[in-house]
Amino acid sequence: PRVVVLAGGLSHERDVSLRSGRRVAEALRSTGLEVTVHDVDADLVPALTEARPDLVWPLLHGASGEDGSVRDVLELLGVRALGTGPRASRVAWSKPIAKTSVTRAGIATPDFVTLPQSLFRELGASRVMDAVVARLGLPLVVKPSRGGSALGVTLVRTADELPGAMVSCFAYGDTALIERAVEGTELAISVIDLDGTPQALPAVEVVTDGPYDYDARYNPGRTEYFAPARLPDDVAARAAETAVAAHRALGLSHLSRTDLIVDADGVPWFLEVNVAPGMTETSLFPQAAEAGGHHLADLYRRLVEAGLR
Ligand code: DAL
Ligand code: MG
Repeated sequence: PRVVVLAGGLSHERDVSLRSGRRVAEALRSTGLEVTVHDVDADLVPALTEARPDLVWPLLHGASGEDGSVRDVLELLGVRALGTGPRASRVAWSKPIAKTSVTRAGIATPDFVTLPQSLFRELGASRVMDAVVARLGLPLVVKPSRGGSALGVTLVRTADELPGAMVSCFAYGDTALIERAVEGTELAISVIDLDGTPQALPAVEVVTDGPYDYDARYNPGRTEYFAPARLPDDVAARAAETAVAAHRALGLSHLSRTDLIVDADGVPWFLEVNVAPGMTETSLFPQAAEAGGHHLADLYRRLVEAGLR
């Protein structure tokens, strides 16, 4: 089969996506597959029409990659694609909509508000921020309601840190998600779904000296990872169940990664889910796969085979 990996694009996570795409393509080639990487631009449609791939693996991170829009084009072209379809991608990509959806499935997620930038202009920033702190308390996490790789995300411990956090957030999008910050162990749980039965890979625990920001994510050595996470078995099992339940509740396909915080009582709090988890050398999905005893190239090949069925 001929596989085209889509990477790059125009999002803020373009570089990360190119790194993910190259690594996955290399791994798949090592299993004997014919794989090309296409940097997504206006030539997407003619390129796919000419390449006639059996399967496309969209490894686009960020807007227009994870928001379902490129997948709409693939669907329109009748091209088979690996992973979650356009409609479920759109739901997963919006953090507030995803949080609301998983709540209905009985999953805990930190209390939150969403704030459009226009509201700040209409009501005045200080009035809005006072209302947010009165409602949610402190500390808080401010993040773009749609985004990835922690871009525009700030932990706010005191009210005077809030205005700066809002400015950083609005640099990446016009709606902010402000949620109660949960203290605890930061985990990522990758899920693979080769035959309609999603299975969790071992949890990866993230330990950083400071925030787990873009720099800490992509510079080797900046972050310490424990795979599997250092958690009691029952707590790890509960976190794994949460990731599988989120994958199901959101109607995701083939692979996903849910990011969570486990609090001091062992409760897993859903933060968000990624339909195109990073596949770079420091990313969490590949570490989880290896911790689960998978040979990475073989697992990618099995995902491709699942996508072809
Ligand atoms: N958004 C990045 C690529 C991730 O979730 O891994
Ligand atoms: Mg994300």
